[in-house]
Amino acid sequence: MIVIPGPVSPKLGEMIAEELGVEPHPVDHRLFPDGESYVRITASVEGQDVLIVQTTMPRQDSSLIQLLLMAGTAKDMGARRLICAVPYLAYSRQDKRFLDGEALSLDLCTELLEAAGVDELIVVDAHSDASLRRVQGNRTMRIVNLSAIPLLAKHLVSLGFEGAYGLSPDKGAIHLAKAGAEVLKGDHGFFEKTRDRRTGEIEMRVKDVDVEGGKAVVFDDIISSGGTMAKAVAGLKAQGAISVAAACTHGLFMGGAEEKIKAAGADFILATDTVETPYSHVSVAKLIAEHVRREMK
Ligand code: R5P
Repeated sequence: MIVIPGPVSPKLGEMIAEELGVEPHPVDHRLFPDGESYVRITASVEGQDVLIVQTTMPRQDSSLIQLLLMAGTAKDMGARRLICAVPYLAYSRQDKRFLDGEALSLDLCTELLEAAGVDELIVVDAHSDASLRRVQGNRTMRIVNLSAIPLLAKHLVSLGFEGAYGLSPDKGAIHLAKAGAEVLKGDHGFFEKTRDRRTGEIEMRVKDVDVEGGKAVVFDDIISSGGTMAKAVAGLKAQGAISVAAACTHGLFMGGAEEKIKAAGADFILATDTVETPYSHVSVAKLIAEHVRREMK
């Protein structure tokens, strides 16, 4: 198998290659003076199974274009089976037409990847598994959604969060709290979250959750502005939790998000390396490599 770490994921790509016991083949890449991306695949991919690793973290647009250029080129050069590991799949949150005229960006992005020749797309903790399954119904490209939540929870156990209450910031993400709590060996619950679709303002309330004097972990797929996580953490502290951890798979941490979350009272902030940040204490390399190894058997 040929593993190609994309320009945005050199480290993760190398770690996945190492897990698979093969040499990574980085691409040549640069930006033209006008900002366009140049990529050149240096490995010989003809007749080979190829794994491209490229997360689509900010700047999402250029990450996505680079991914499409690499995928299309690998297929064009004769790659046999083309797998793209895109641990953070940008544009996934716009998966419904909330307001008339909005773009269904999840649908369009996956359509583009399929058109570029991708046979299998691997993502980690997609924003909505249900939306991904809906999209899968319209695609021949296989879409696989892996979860890093048990890995985050395992790390939290080593930080003393065994038995902690696991919470998700909304009901739709209760599966994250449940998966986390299973490893923590604690209870789980969710916040009631409402968002104003025009202003983006959110309101969060938690009911029937007893965290007084105990520890709690908020599990989310993404921390972006940190607003959701900060509200959740503050709510738990207000209810008497003695220690609260903020855990997410994709830590985008835009515009001082981490400061906001710390100011709300978080004792720990934890994320994976689907997006590389100082909080990426958990790696998804093994998770992805194990899936690929199983596929290749
Ligand atoms: C939303 O449904 C997601 O699961 C996250 O809760 C949200 O994207 C986090 O965004 P922010 O950090 O900007 O509040």
